[in-house]
Formats: sequence, C-alpha cells, structure tokens
Amino acid sequence: MNTHVTAITNQKGGVGKTTTSINLAAALAQKGKKTLLIDLDPQANATSGLGLNKLSDQSIYPVLLGEQKLVDVIQETEVPKLHVVSSELDLAGAEIEIARMDSYLTRLKESLDPVIAAGTYAYIILDCPPSLGLITLNALTAAHSLLVPLQCEYYALEGLSVIMDMVIKVQESSNPKIRLDGILFTMFDNRTNLSKDVVEEVRNHFQDGLYETVIPRNVRLSEAPSHGESIFTYAPASRGANAYRDLAKEYIRRN
Ligand SMILES: Nc1ncnc2c1ncn2[C@@H]1O[C@H](COP(=O)(O)OP(=O)(O)O)[C@@H](O)[C@H]1O
Ligand SMILES: [Mg+2]
Repeated sequence: MNTHVTAITNQKGGVGKTTTSINLAAALAQKGKKTLLIDLDPQANATSGLGLNKLSDQSIYPVLLGEQKLVDVIQETEVPKLHVVSSELDLAGAEIEIARMDSYLTRLKESLDPVIAAGTYAYIILDCPPSLGLITLNALTAAHSLLVPLQCEYYALEGLSVIMDMVIKVQESSNPKIRLDGILFTMFDNRTNLSKDVVEEVRNHFQDGLYETVIPRNVRLSEAPSHGESIFTYAPASRGANAYRDLAKEYIRRN
C-alpha cells in the first residue's frame, strides 16, 4: 500500500502536538489503517502516553545515527494496528551528532524509505519536538504533508508565519513536495470570544488550509496519557474522543 507521512509540527510547546499524534494515530488504526507513530521529541511524551517504556536500544536515536534499522526498533502497542518508534532523552544529543553528518537533513527520510517501499503502513505520523531544529527539519524533509496544531490564543498567527516560512525553505531545498495538510485548532473553548476570534482570523488567512474539525478543551484528553492510553480506551464517549474520530475521518479524506 501507499504510505502517507505527516509531520505534526509547531515550534511552540504545549499546543497539542503529542495529544494529536497519539489520538490521530490511534483513530486511524481503529479505522483499520495500519499506522506507525514515530516519537521525535526527546521528552518522549508520545512514547509514555501510549504506555511504552523508553528503551535506549530501541528508539529512533540509533536509527538517526545510522546504527540501527527502523524496522528493528518498531514496537507494538495495546492498540491493534498501531505501532510506535519510541524516543529518549538522548535524542537531544543526537541532534549534535547529526549536524556533523553530510546527510544531516535526510537522516530520517533515508531510514523511512525501506519501510515506505515495503508498504507496511497506510500512515506514518511524526510527533515533532517544540523547536524548528534539526530533528524537525528532518521530519519536514521526510514528510509528504504537515499538520500544525494551533492553540486558540493571541499571536497564533505570528507563530504560524514562522512555520510557514520554514516550510517554504524546506520546499526550496530538501523537500519540494511537502504541503500544508492543515492547521488544526486545539483546546478550543467555545465559552470565550477569544477562541472564536482567533479561528476567524486564521480562517481569513488560510481558507482551505484549515481543518474543519476543531478539538475542544477536554480534561479527559489531558488525563489519558498518564494512564498510558489513547482517548479511545480511556474515555471513548468523551467529546475529545469524538473530536479525534472526526479528525481522523477528515485526515483520511485529505490524504
Ligand atoms: N484538547 C485538549 N484539552 C485539554 N487538555 C489538552 C488538550 N490537548 C492537549 N492537552 C494537554 O495540554 C498539554 C500540552 O499538550 P501536548 O499534546 O503535550 O502538547 P505539545 O506536544 O505540543 O507540547 C498536555 O498536558 C495535554 O494533556
Ligand atoms: Mg509533545
């Protein structure tokens, strides 16, 4: 099967990248799409959020350094059809080592190529760290599309323009084909006018570039990771679960 690779990116921390990576990936798997989630953040929140341990001999780190193959570090999860490559704190150090290599932008792409060629997965989701450093650049170089979670707050647009400048640079250099799949509003609170204003403002600028699905602020979504579960087993009837189910439908339609 064809594999579609999406980077979940925003240089800001705490905007819902990892929550979206975990729950979008789990929703896709639930819909029967075999999905691989790769945790690229040294904080390894996606790894622990799915109840996996950080094993140093089984993470993305040796893969990026060319010491191990990606297929050899893939782990199964409690969710059928959802596999994960975990991260670890050392990944921060890997960035320094990668910077010295000739192929410093394509480390991840090259390690994904055999897995994509094998056609094992319908989707590969890349959970990026909160920076536009080398790891994120590797993700944008390896991805077909990018999904940007955005918190409904003042200055959301300014943060977006930083990402969009980065995408243009990547298009001009290491990955001409990458496209913005969509901006996704997260932690939306419809009791505040601010949320509505921000959505309106971004919609005026990006039109089609916006996901129709909006993720509400939902405490169940913030509780699930400490139980090592996606929202679909932790609170399957919650508003958060419904929103991420809708997101998966829309994501499949777009990709
Ligand atoms: N829709 C939401 N409703 C409530 N809490 C959320 C929601 N999305 C994320 N969170 C919480 O906000 C914090 C930051 O989210 P996270 O996904 O880790 O962001 P990032 O990966 O961008 O740093 C986490 O504690 C997470 O559980
Ligand atoms: Mg994160």
